[in-house]
Amino acid sequence: MRISVIGGTGLIGTRLVAQLIADGHDVVVASRATGVNSYTGEGLAEALAGAQALIDVSNSDYLDEAAANEFFYGSTLNLLTYGAAAGVAHHVALSVVGTDRLARTEGGYFAAKATQERLIRQSGRPYSIVHATQFFEFIANIADAGTDRNVVRLSRALFQPMAADDVAAAVATVAVGKPVNRVVEFAGPEQFRLEELVRRRLRDRNDLREVRVDPLARYFGTDLDERELLPGPDATIATTRYEEWIDAGGRPNVALEGTPA
Ligand SMILES: NC(=O)c1ccc[n+]([C@@H]2O[C@H](COP(=O)([O-])OP(=O)(O)OC[C@H]3O[C@@H](n4cnc5c(N)ncnc54)[C@H](OP(=O)(O)O)[C@@H]3O)[C@@H](O)[C@H]2O)c1
Repeated sequence: MRISVIGGTGLIGTRLVAQLIADGHDVVVASRATGVNSYTGEGLAEALAGAQALIDVSNSDYLDEAAANEFFYGSTLNLLTYGAAAGVAHHVALSVVGTDRLARTEGGYFAAKATQERLIRQSGRPYSIVHATQFFEFIANIADAGTDRNVVRLSRALFQPMAADDVAAAVATVAVGKPVNRVVEFAGPEQFRLEELVRRRLRDRNDLREVRVDPLARYFGTDLDERELLPGPDATIATTRYEEWIDAGGRPNVALEGTPA
């Protein structure tokens, strides 16, 4: 199957491309590094020619909210338009568990992701939206985003993070299936408080920043309630636990318990 991966050079994209190639698919790696710009449209028609599926794992800056909104709006519209013209039969996008809830705070990163999802849902194109929880690889970014003068301030929210390899495997599984025309959720096997895992991650990296719980701390521009980052009861649970990921140096073998309906 011919599959174009937009953002195929990123954290998830590289893992996804490797997985799809290993599964025998004909993969087009599309990003600015390969001459494809989903925001301007440069190289998109060529990248999507003959593709049965388009997988969007591109990203914008997590901290520049205006840029994120502009990127996801323009890029998603282009992908839907060029995808329709190329006859792409499945538009797959990776997004974040809870995006709809988290987008209520105007202007944050999640508002941009919610716009991306809305455009896809309302396009009339066959699609699947994959919601994943936070990546283990992303925990250091959560610390950085909450840092002010050497103190990391985090809300008491719970989360259920997962390995990027498991996310890539989940996206690959969804993309080679039929469009489900809805959101499918994936999550890690364990719940933590944000501050608990950030503290562990910083300690493992000999990072001396202090971590404090602050009920008013924002999460990428969004107010966070305690359970908003958690998946629903129908989420597919990935098997890689945090300690296994650490022990494997951040690249464990991939295994998922079941696949989405
Ligand atoms: N972080 C988390 O915990 C988390 C959890 C769930 C879901 N997600 C979602 O996962 C997705 C992927 O995240 P990631 O961390 O893998 O992203 P990433 O490592 O930042 O990679 C972003 C990719 O997008 C490409 N890109 C950026 N601008 C582009 C453009 N104008 N045209 C074409 N390609 C462009 C980049 O390549 P070039 O620079 O070469 O263009 C790169 O390949 C995001 O949409 C994010 O919302 C993240």
